[in-house]
Amino acid sequence: MTQASKKSSQQAAKKMLRALNGETLESPPVWLMRQAGRYLPEYRELRRKAAGFLDLCYTPDYAVEVTLQPIRRFGFDAAILFSDILVVPHALGQKVWFEEGAGPRLDALQEPGDLARLSRAGLHDTLAPVYETLRRLSRELPPETTLIGFAGAPWTVASYMLEGGSSKDFAAGKRWAYGDPAAMQRLIDLLVDATGDYLVAQIDAGAEAVQIFDSWAGVWPEAHLRRWCLAPAKALVARVKAERPGVPVIVFPRGAGLLYEVYADECGADALGLDTTVPLGWARQALQPKVCLQGNLDPLLLVAGGTSLREGVEEILRFLAGGPFVFNLGHGIVPQTPPEHVAEMLAQIRAWRG
Ligand code: CP3
Repeated sequence: MTQASKKSSQQAAKKMLRALNGETLESPPVWLMRQAGRYLPEYRELRRKAAGFLDLCYTPDYAVEVTLQPIRRFGFDAAILFSDILVVPHALGQKVWFEEGAGPRLDALQEPGDLARLSRAGLHDTLAPVYETLRRLSRELPPETTLIGFAGAPWTVASYMLEGGSSKDFAAGKRWAYGDPAAMQRLIDLLVDATGDYLVAQIDAGAEAVQIFDSWAGVWPEAHLRRWCLAPAKALVARVKAERPGVPVIVFPRGAGLLYEVYADECGADALGLDTTVPLGWARQALQPKVCLQGNLDPLLLVAGGTSLREGVEEILRFLAGGPFVFNLGHGIVPQTPPEHVAEMLAQIRAWRG
């Protein structure tokens, strides 16, 4: 066997990659969105040492350690790179900072002229520590663990760039999209290109699959979701497929509702991340024949624990584990989650025999 084919057969044996490639497994692989983070005491301790959240993302010693923490504790089937979706606007030249208790802050783009402040020229220099983190992780992870890279989808990242932080109504993003669609298109196109560069570089540094987080896809009327979310996702998947064929892509269009079916038909992803509201019977019948599914336990069930958690897990397994499936949450784990509940959930999933 050549070195390359040995490597690819080892990789093919990883549960996560088998599921993403369309196999149905006896018990599904499992990882959790935001599996590294504040619910873990070991994360909080390391976080106190870092100068700030971005310092954590850009210091490979820290980022590697934080990525590995949930793997050591729980043995998830996949490790997701520790970073944030907002490193892309930061690498394009926008100011990004994280305020304690207030979440992310950016110097918001006020008008289309502000787009001139952004440039892809320094992207890979700023993001070099992220690539170094991936290279180290691919050496340090257990052989059965898949390394996932990620980026925010263009619309979700644009929403933070335009609002200057988190938003309830996305008024600034909608003002651009509805009032000056050509300017919005320029921003989205820039993000498609930068994010494509970033994902390809993550793959070259060791990411074995990539996930595109469109956390705010669910705020648009249909035509706009198609333009600002679906079309950029399709372009990104096509770019990864053209340049690094064989690397699976997961798209998470949170809140897409019935348009999940259009994603399954058109976006070209190997897997779709389901949010918590997607009905399981519909997903099995309308989506799973077309793509691998990932999801969709309510993160608050993991906070509650007990019978509600067990029933929630059981129901997802009953509906979705009979096809290509990756167990996950329907959105990120929340800081108040007791780690013991994660361990109980994992035991239940691993005991499942489809
Ligand atoms: O473990 C992992 O999943 C990998 C790391 C990861 C983080 N953010 C670390 C993080 C990933 C994949 C993300 C994605 C992300 N970041 C998204 C998309 C997914 C989603 O949850 O919708 C979004 C919208 C962001 C932007 C962002 N980053 C927000 C809104 C916040 C503040 C809210 C919060 O949870 O604090 C962050 C900060 C952030 N990103 C933290 C972590 C661990 C907490 C920062 C801290 O320790 O103070």
